[in-house]
Amino acid sequence: MNAGLTTVAYIGATILFILSLGGLSNPETARRGNLFGIIGMTIAVLVTLAGPRLTGGGNMAMVIIAMAIGGSVGVFAAVRVKMTQMPELVALMHSLVGMAAVLVGFANYFDPTSTLTGAEKTIHEVEIYIGILIGAVTFSGSVIAFGKLAGKISGAPLTLPGRHQFNFGLLIVTVILGKWFINAHGVSEGLQPLIYMTILALIFGVHMVMAIGGADMPVVVSMLNSYSGWAAAATGFMLSNDLLIVVGALVGSSGAILSYIMCRAMNRKFLAVIGGGFGTGGGAPAASSAAQPAGEVVAVSAQETAEMLRESKNVIIIPGYGMAVAQAQHTVYEITKFLRAKGINVRFAIHPVAGRMPGHMNVLLAEAKVPYDIVMEMDEINEDFPSTDVAMIIGANDIVNPSAEDDPNSPIAGMPVLEVWKATTSIVMKRSMASGYAGVDNPLFYKENNRMLFGDAKKMLDEVLNHLRSAA
Ligand code: TAP
Repeated sequence: MNAGLTTVAYIGATILFILSLGGLSNPETARRGNLFGIIGMTIAVLVTLAGPRLTGGGNMAMVIIAMAIGGSVGVFAAVRVKMTQMPELVALMHSLVGMAAVLVGFANYFDPTSTLTGAEKTIHEVEIYIGILIGAVTFSGSVIAFGKLAGKISGAPLTLPGRHQFNFGLLIVTVILGKWFINAHGVSEGLQPLIYMTILALIFGVHMVMAIGGADMPVVVSMLNSYSGWAAAATGFMLSNDLLIVVGALVGSSGAILSYIMCRAMNRKFLAVIGGGFGTGGGAPAASSAAQPAGEVVAVSAQETAEMLRESKNVIIIPGYGMAVAQAQHTVYEITKFLRAKGINVRFAIHPVAGRMPGHMNVLLAEAKVPYDIVMEMDEINEDFPSTDVAMIIGANDIVNPSAEDDPNSPIAGMPVLEVWKATTSIVMKRSMASGYAGVDNPLFYKENNRMLFGDAKKMLDEVLNHLRSAA
């Protein structure tokens, strides 16, 4: 395929990727957005295979074998992964983009066919240096994020003394090594600063994500998403591949916008997140630093829950991570349909960081075919709780924690939350008194108008549905 045709195909793929991102911004068009992305990526891969680089002397057999292995691993992972493991899988994928940037960087530096000299050579070496730098940070940071999301590494922030000075020191040394690399005579001398910098970048990635507390993980996920985009763009520069540069920039900037949205949702400043230390992480009940919640919790049965729902006029359902774990979304929708058929106004309230990945709850509710017009964002519905009879919280915890508003010493102080306690009655559905992802105790459970329905969300909701149906 000649260069002109390749360029035209790349422009077509770029347009499809932009349409894909546009589609993904709304649940109703997300499916179409995905389709555009798939077509764009197919064109990109086929055109690259047919392009001058491979047909003009590249080892096609090796590429096909690598694609077959990579593709099989991808299909296997996608089929096997549970919906609740999706965030970990995404973090792992980001790490692969980072690793690819590092490997392409080193391969480029060793390239015996390179004929670049003078300024062109210097520019190419800067591309290699920056590409490997971003790639290594993305790789090690994503591996740690994977460990934290999978619960293999503690969510608690690692706050080393003098960690800001340590990071600043790493930055200075990286610049000095960069100067050495650019001025090196020959590949063997240049290799030394390149290897030292790669090791430092790997350490920085580990340190950066280790320092970030459990409650800030949403921002970390989107931040690493953005880094993986920039790593791909850097790879594009190294390979002189325009499409990879554009696609990398699209992923990098959309990830940056997502990080901004996540920061706003959590009322946090991006630099403060990178600074680390927010949220204690955990999964076990953690002692709140101030204002210990007092009192007793009032447990209810599935039958009592069904009665309260039946007698309501307005119900708001708040899904959280536990709904994803229990895979309770289909039963939730069955209950919703039942109540709506009885003339009860049922809506869903979605917190921007509910679950473990951006849009987690929207995906689950869409899968269960819940109509989009009853799924509301936090800002759209938070004022409606005082006029709500029952706020039904399904496997959510941090996103309905009043201490974010009431307790300035709480690790999640300042994070906007769904004000479910303002409803006439709130019902929390979870298995125990354990804390949520941020490891913070929740005073909501002890409020007078709160009820606890203990048990697995799917099992309890099935019981609630049975009681609703049998009493109808
Ligand atoms: P969490 O605060 O993590 O609470 C989930 C609750 O679900 C737990 O307290 C757990 O209590 C319960 N649960 C677990 N399995 C259950 C089951 N089978 N049936 C019923 N309940 C079950 O979740 P959330 O309220 O959705 O808040 C999200 C948290 O994750 C925030 O802290 C957020 O910062 C963090 N986070 C979010 C993201 C993104 S991008 N959304 C990424 C990383 C981290 P029991 O064990 O007692 O059942």
